[in-house]
Amino acid sequence: MAYLNWSDDFSVNVKEIDAQHRMLVEKINMLHQAMLDNKGREAQQEIIQGMAEYANVHFETEEKYMRRLDYPGYRKHKAEHERFAEKAYELHKRSNSSGFVLSLEILSFLKDWLQEHILVVDKEYSKHFNENGVY
Ligand SMILES: [Fe+2]
Repeated sequence: MAYLNWSDDFSVNVKEIDAQHRMLVEKINMLHQAMLDNKGREAQQEIIQGMAEYANVHFETEEKYMRRLDYPGYRKHKAEHERFAEKAYELHKRSNSSGFVLSLEILSFLKDWLQEHILVVDKEYSKHFNENGVY
């Protein structure tokens, strides 16, 4: 069983965004697997970087729609993305040091953040997007 399982509860009813969220879930699972497999620091770092970069691409997609559709919660939502991006950057920096070990604590932070963000913050724009023809 995967560390984090996609469930239909995660759907925001927008195809492109759901696909990106699935990919983020997958990236977290890859990171978890790298930890279980005791992959070396460099391999872990590569996955961390891949996840952080993908998260940024994904945030840009969401924010692009929010701006286009005049979403009222744009600034608050963007601030949440920025907080995560900072954490991910911090993590990437930490993974540069030789003593870095990927821990369950780090994994659970990523997992909890993503779940909470999708289920609460992202779900809030779902209706607005759909009402404006974005599915
Ligand atoms: Fe978001």
